[in-house]
Amino acid sequence: MDRIRIRGGNTLNGTIPISGAKNAALPLMIASLLTDDTLTLENVPHLADVEQLIRILGNHGVDYTVSGKRLSSTPASGRTIHFTARTIIDTTAPYELVSKMRASFWVIGPLLARMHKAKVSLPGGCAIGTRPVDLFIDGLRALGATMDIEGGYIVAEAKGGLVGNRYVFPKVSVGATHVMMMAASLAKGETVIENAAREPEVVDLATCLNAMGAKITGAGTPTITIEGVTALSGARHRVLPDRIETGTYAMAVAMTGGDVTLEQTSADLLSSAFNVLREAGAEVTSVPNGVRIVRNGGGIHPVDVVTDPFPGFPTDLQAQFMALMTRASGVSHITETIFENRFMHVQELARLGAKIHLSGQMARIEGVPRLAGAQVMATDLRASVSLVIAGLVAEGETTVNRVYHLDRGFERLEEKLVACGAEVERISS
Ligand code: EPZ
Repeated sequence: MDRIRIRGGNTLNGTIPISGAKNAALPLMIASLLTDDTLTLENVPHLADVEQLIRILGNHGVDYTVSGKRLSSTPASGRTIHFTARTIIDTTAPYELVSKMRASFWVIGPLLARMHKAKVSLPGGCAIGTRPVDLFIDGLRALGATMDIEGGYIVAEAKGGLVGNRYVFPKVSVGATHVMMMAASLAKGETVIENAAREPEVVDLATCLNAMGAKITGAGTPTITIEGVTALSGARHRVLPDRIETGTYAMAVAMTGGDVTLEQTSADLLSSAFNVLREAGAEVTSVPNGVRIVRNGGGIHPVDVVTDPFPGFPTDLQAQFMALMTRASGVSHITETIFENRFMHVQELARLGAKIHLSGQMARIEGVPRLAGAQVMATDLRASVSLVIAGLVAEGETTVNRVYHLDRGFERLEEKLVACGAEVERISS
C-alpha cells in the first residue's frame, strides 16, 4: 500500500492549479443515465472515485470515451469524457459496487425516472457515520414511486412514470437534492423541493441538466422548481472547480506560511471558509481566475468554527481546519453538525503532538508551538489530508499511511505540494 512521506518545515510558495470538483463530477456523470444521447463532461478530475463510478455506470450500460490528455508536466487540464447511455442494460446496482462508493446509490434517481424501476443496494454506514437514506426514500415516494426494502436492496418502481409533487426536506441533504432534481426532470408535471441543499455542486448539476433540456429554476436557493420534460438530450458541460481542494491548499498555506496562488478556482465558492482563514491570520484575495493566500510573519490565531450546510463552513474542511488550529496561539473549538462521527483525525493529530479534547460533537483544540513527525493514518479522505497539512509543519518526518484515501479525492497531491516547495514523496509498496 502506498504511503506519503513528508519532511516538515518548508513554507509554500508558487501556484497550484485546482482540479474539477469530485463532488460535482460524480452526480454529473450519474446524470448521463437520464438520456440516450452523449453527455460530454470537461475538466473531469483524475481520481479513484471517478474511475470507480465509470465502472459502476458501465454496469448499467453507460459507454465512455476519454479525449484530451492530462500531462503531469502541464497545469491540470482535466479530462474531457463522453458518456453515452444508449441503452440501459441493467437497472440493478449491486452491493459489491454500491458498497465501494456511497454516491453510486444516487443512480436510483435517473434509473427510476428513465426506466421506471431500479433495484439499488443500500449503501450502509461508512467511516464518517451511519449516513441513512430515508430522505431519498421519502422524496422519491412523494414523486409516486413505491420504495420497498428487500434483502438489503431498495426496490423502487413507478409504473407509468414519476409524477411531480411538492416535497419538503426535513433535513438538508446534498445527495438527496441531486437525486430529486434528476428524478423530477423526467417526471410528469411540476416538482417543488423545499429546504434543498444550496451547495455549488447542486447548482452545477442543475446547470448541466438544463443544458440537457431540463427546466430547473431556483438551484442555489432553498426552493428548487422542476418542470418535468418527456426526454433529455446530450450536452457539453464543464465541471466546476473543486472548492474543497481549494480550501485544503489554502489551509496548507495558512499552516506553513508563504504565498500561493490557487488557479482555475474562485473565492466565491468558499466565502465562509475564507472569512475564517482571514480571522486566523491569512491574507486571502481574489485574483483573476483564482485566489491568492499569503501568510508571512504573523502567527495563527485561534478561531471557533461550526460546520453547516452551504453557505456555512463545510464539513469537508473541518479536519483540515483542525490541523491548522493545532498550531494556533490559543484555544479554539470546532463543532461538527453534519456527520456524527467525523473526528477520526483527532487521535492521529495527537500522535504528532496536537492537544485536542473531544466532547460529543465539539473538539477543543489547544494550540501548541510545535508538532513532531510520526507515522499516522486515517480512515477517510479529508482526515487523511489533514494529516498531510500537519506533517508540512511537523519537525522531522511524517509518514501518512493508507494513501488510497487521498487518491479518492485529491488529484496529484504530492506533485502540487512539491511544486510549491514542500518535501513530499510517495513511497510505493
Ligand atoms: C455529500 O455527501 C458529499 N459527497 C460529502 O463529501 C459531504 O461531506 C456531504 O455532502 C455534506 O456536505 C458527495 O458529494 C459525493 P448529505 P452526502 O446527504 O450527499 C444525513 C467528501 O469528503 N442524511 O448532505 O452523502 C446524513 O447522514 C464527502 O468528499 C440523512 O439523515 O451528504 C448527514 O448527516 C464525504 N438521511 C446529513 O444528512 C438521508 O437520507 C448530510 O448528508 C441522507 C442524508
